[in-house]
Amino acid sequence: MKSLLFQLPSAQNGIEMVPTKTFDVTFTAVAFTANLLKTLSALAVLLLFFSLTCVPASAQLAATPPMGWNSWNHFGANVSDSDVRAAADALVATGLRDSGYIYVNVDDGWQGKRTESGELMPNERFPDMKSLADYVHARGLKLGLYSSPGPLSCAGNEGSMGHEDIDARTFAQWGVDYLKYDICSYRKILERDAHRNPEIAQRMMFAVFERMHLALQATGRPIVYSVSQHGLSLGWAWASQVGANLWRTGDDIHDNYISVTEIGFAQGGLSKFAGPSHWNDPDMLEIGNGGLTSDEGRTQMSLWSLLAAPLLAGNDVSKMDSDSLAILNNREVLCIDQDPAGHQGDRLWTEGPLEIWARYLTGGAIAVGLFNRNQGYIDMPLDLRLLGLTSVVKVRDVWKHKDLPPFQGSKTFLVAPHGVVLLVLHR
Ligand code: GLA
Repeated sequence: MKSLLFQLPSAQNGIEMVPTKTFDVTFTAVAFTANLLKTLSALAVLLLFFSLTCVPASAQLAATPPMGWNSWNHFGANVSDSDVRAAADALVATGLRDSGYIYVNVDDGWQGKRTESGELMPNERFPDMKSLADYVHARGLKLGLYSSPGPLSCAGNEGSMGHEDIDARTFAQWGVDYLKYDICSYRKILERDAHRNPEIAQRMMFAVFERMHLALQATGRPIVYSVSQHGLSLGWAWASQVGANLWRTGDDIHDNYISVTEIGFAQGGLSKFAGPSHWNDPDMLEIGNGGLTSDEGRTQMSLWSLLAAPLLAGNDVSKMDSDSLAILNNREVLCIDQDPAGHQGDRLWTEGPLEIWARYLTGGAIAVGLFNRNQGYIDMPLDLRLLGLTSVVKVRDVWKHKDLPPFQGSKTFLVAPHGVVLLVLHR
């Protein structure tokens, strides 16, 4: 069994905690001590790997929804190397890495110009991408990068169109473990060439996203492939066929309750498209960015976990209040998100602004979220018969970290304004 969500570093995925060449002619006591320390730290990682359990180890890429951090929601297009290093350090210091937040994803804003031979260089805020990747890897984390199938990214930076192979090779050489490939300027090409014909648009999109998948595959490096087509052309129905490990199901999320819930509660019916190594992506987390109350933050975290959504913190993790950290780092909630069976949850019941969503978990447990989208406190009923449960169930409140009295039939739960009660039911 592995740590809650922690992935075993290995040479294969580019994380080399232990040097392969330990002794050579320059061997000295200093080198020996350094190597010993590295070996001990690798052992510590291994111990962690075996001590905490929630998700069984899997060699499969994105076997559970990817977790980590992404620069966009907080830093936008001005992100820098030092922001990313600070985020990597903070993931370690806060314990988020050990809870499974292992991808450190640089979004739009790192790209510079191409060399004469077509190689894409980072801009002046990223002096050395390989050294950044080494820095991230040395902390037991993985590096993500961003590009576009169009000529330009959404922020107007260089895209990969016509340079897919060379870009994939460059990313692999740097040690990139995750690529977000964002449609951006390719939308204009679709408008121009698909003549409003959805079938042509879908074929075109399929082709460009598959092209980068094949280019990544040809590098031989395992790289999580995140397709960001903003929900266009019903991406959930075809994106896994272009090698996507995750795909966006809608437009960009913003740091407010309306945006988070408009996106989150629009995910009904998509559960059948998700599963291990291929996930619906309702976009990144906004917890800790200042626009959500704690109840609203718990709403996003609960809903995303019921949806088996990728969990990419979108805040400045190096400057986080304790409440945001507690929301991001609630392992009982993370265990729902990372449940190894990978069955995405769906809407069970709705009545005006009240919603109940449920997710079947490994071993017969069921996670249930009671969401109150209203402005005042409400007593919400949960009728177990909706879940086909007729006998007594044991109940765990995962935000309160408390077992509640077992019950049968129906029971009401007090739910805060814009809040949630998230339960795990055991038969
Ligand atoms: C699009 C994506 C966002 C972000 C920006 C970057 O809007 O949907 O998630 O990557 O581009 O420019």
